[in-house]
Amino acid sequence: MKEQILSLLSAECPARDTLYWFDSTDSTNDRAKLLAKNGAPACSVVMANHQTNGRGRMGRSFVSDDGAGIYLSFIVRPDCCVNACMHLTGAVAVAACDAIESVCAVRPQIKWINDLILGNKKLGGILTELSVVMNTDRVDYAVVGIGINCDQWQNDFPENLQSIATSLRNYTGKSFSRAALYAAIIERLCILQKSLICNKEDYLQSYRRDCITLGKQVVLLPDEITATALSVDEECALFVRLADGTVRRIISGEASIRGVGGYV
Ligand code: BTN
Repeated sequence: MKEQILSLLSAECPARDTLYWFDSTDSTNDRAKLLAKNGAPACSVVMANHQTNGRGRMGRSFVSDDGAGIYLSFIVRPDCCVNACMHLTGAVAVAACDAIESVCAVRPQIKWINDLILGNKKLGGILTELSVVMNTDRVDYAVVGIGINCDQWQNDFPENLQSIATSLRNYTGKSFSRAALYAAIIERLCILQKSLICNKEDYLQSYRRDCITLGKQVVLLPDEITATALSVDEECALFVRLADGTVRRIISGEASIRGVGGYV
């Protein structure tokens, strides 16, 4: 797989010399964090055919079946303070949508803040983990993990996920080259590594366009409060209006949401 991905990457792609492929690993994010801690450069990429401990946001697990999906973690070194890169997860979601559209000719939508959605079901997600330079607010590195369901049929998902999860094959009826998808994602993440801060507005504009949550009735978790999603600000925080008319700003670490009538 690694050779195939390399053959599809452009000659000038900065990730070419720092691709790590595992047949099986616990979590590509954990592998990438270890590499980053030991000084691996920006644009290093960890990928795996299978994860035994794939992780999602809010302590959830991410089902990572053998050879059925994209499981990739990418090291970003944005050279900025934490507040300046709060839009990182959103920008990565946009980059993932761009890559999927270029290879599969379908564009997922984004459920705030990090879920990729096709046909109102979860296609995948992003997990961002940040490390800060001690006693400063400067980012040392961020690891962005992307998981995308590619080849599963509906029955392949665990029973509790069957009504809310989908895959590229399940949605389109077609099977796509995972190597092509890996390469398209890596190319876009390398661009993001350079343009995260200077093209912030462009990423946010695309995010707001793709965000399926805006304008919807949502339930805030874990408190189960119903609200209307209003807008996303420059830190990718979500403004919602509660039933009593008050407006609340939600940041990603604090809460997640689900739709009133279902997952989206
Ligand atoms: C979510 O659904 O909340 C995010 C899912 C992120 C899954 C990806 S798969 C590659 C990387 N390694 C992990 O353990 N998680 C991310």
